[in-house]
Amino acid sequence: MSIIKKTSVVSGFYKLPIEKRREFVSDFATLTAGDSSVFSSALDLATADRMIENVIGTFEIPLGVAVNFLINGKDYLIPMATEESSVVAAASNGAKIARIKGGFTTTCSEPLMIGQLQLLHVNDVVRAAKEILNHKDNLLSLANAQDKILIDLGGGAKDLEVRILHSPLGDMIVTHLIVDVRDAMGANAVNTMCEALAPMLEEITGGKIRLKILSNLADRRLVKATAVFDKEKMGGESVVDAFLESYTLATIDPYRAATHNKGIMNGIDALILATGNDFRAIEAGAHAYASRDGRYTSLTSYHKDEHGNLVGEIELPLAVGVVGGAVNMHPKAKLCRKILGITTAKELSEVAASLGLAQNFAALFALSTVGIQKGHMGLHAKNIAVMAGAQGDEIDRIADMMVSEGKVKLDRAKELLEKIRKKTK
Ligand code: MEV
Repeated sequence: MSIIKKTSVVSGFYKLPIEKRREFVSDFATLTAGDSSVFSSALDLATADRMIENVIGTFEIPLGVAVNFLINGKDYLIPMATEESSVVAAASNGAKIARIKGGFTTTCSEPLMIGQLQLLHVNDVVRAAKEILNHKDNLLSLANAQDKILIDLGGGAKDLEVRILHSPLGDMIVTHLIVDVRDAMGANAVNTMCEALAPMLEEITGGKIRLKILSNLADRRLVKATAVFDKEKMGGESVVDAFLESYTLATIDPYRAATHNKGIMNGIDALILATGNDFRAIEAGAHAYASRDGRYTSLTSYHKDEHGNLVGEIELPLAVGVVGGAVNMHPKAKLCRKILGITTAKELSEVAASLGLAQNFAALFALSTVGIQKGHMGLHAKNIAVMAGAQGDEIDRIADMMVSEGKVKLDRAKELLEKIRKKTK
């Protein structure tokens, strides 16, 4: 095992005991003793009780860190909260290969969210739409009067657009309020503004406002990440070709695209959860964006460069925050932000997009070569060993034996356990 300080590259990290892994992360992120103690403390019930209703406890899932990430020239250890085995290892492996050619490069639009106001029962929708636009300045001023702090930070309502939609109930006007939410996810700010605008819109048009709510299709808040994956490290150009064949199915078939994108979200959701963000919002936005042309397709794209290396790109909406809600209340979410060394929503979204690309690359790479089960086998075998009754050292011994035999089954685990115990008697 070799550890080079202040880089996210660590070989053999997975073999270290948990305490040593924590030490490495603490060192990397310059955590204090107080910070580090948060690793082992559960969310306190009083905080949990302030976060949701009817609390009866808290629910734990594993928190790991993905290593090897180099994004825009900066090293990151990426905290990931997930119940799925192989995900953290796969992301770390994807990042390791991306690193050879310089890691991930990202771009990001302004943090613009869309609030929707649905207006019905208008006699002349075209005229009413024009009236709304005539009052744009007043409407924006009213929206901006709702959130002085956001305005002071340089955010606030920036624009207003009007759409006329046809429905079985007749025509309706949907007004989009475009709000720069800075470092917040933005739901609260946008919803408050939309509710404040409703009476004015009704007065201007004589219609009736029904819905007034943020849209999770945050397609003004897009993030792109790209990386070049070294063909030699992948096993040569034939593997790159096999990869591209596998990828192509996701571009033409929604059945495959759903699984392909699920793999991307394995990474992104784990980071979103670890930082206290709303993973349902991210999921909804990602999948809606994947269908933006009327057919559900891949969120990533790949091609070969002139040297035969694989170039990957991901683009998706990422409405994440580093202020507000669980982000500020959950001690582990705060710790995870510190491990990441980020202070802005923009940087968090860029890390999330890079992680999604690494995760997708790693899954397709495995699927195009050895298959996905090989990577899953190690931890799966340990779980089977535990189910068979193995304890302590027995777990690793039985898991190793089953993996080398290529037979990971409960009955085999029980046989091996019996053998081991007989021998040690
Ligand atoms: C499993 O959680 C995710 C994969 O199915 C993704 C993929 O097939 O690309 C391995």
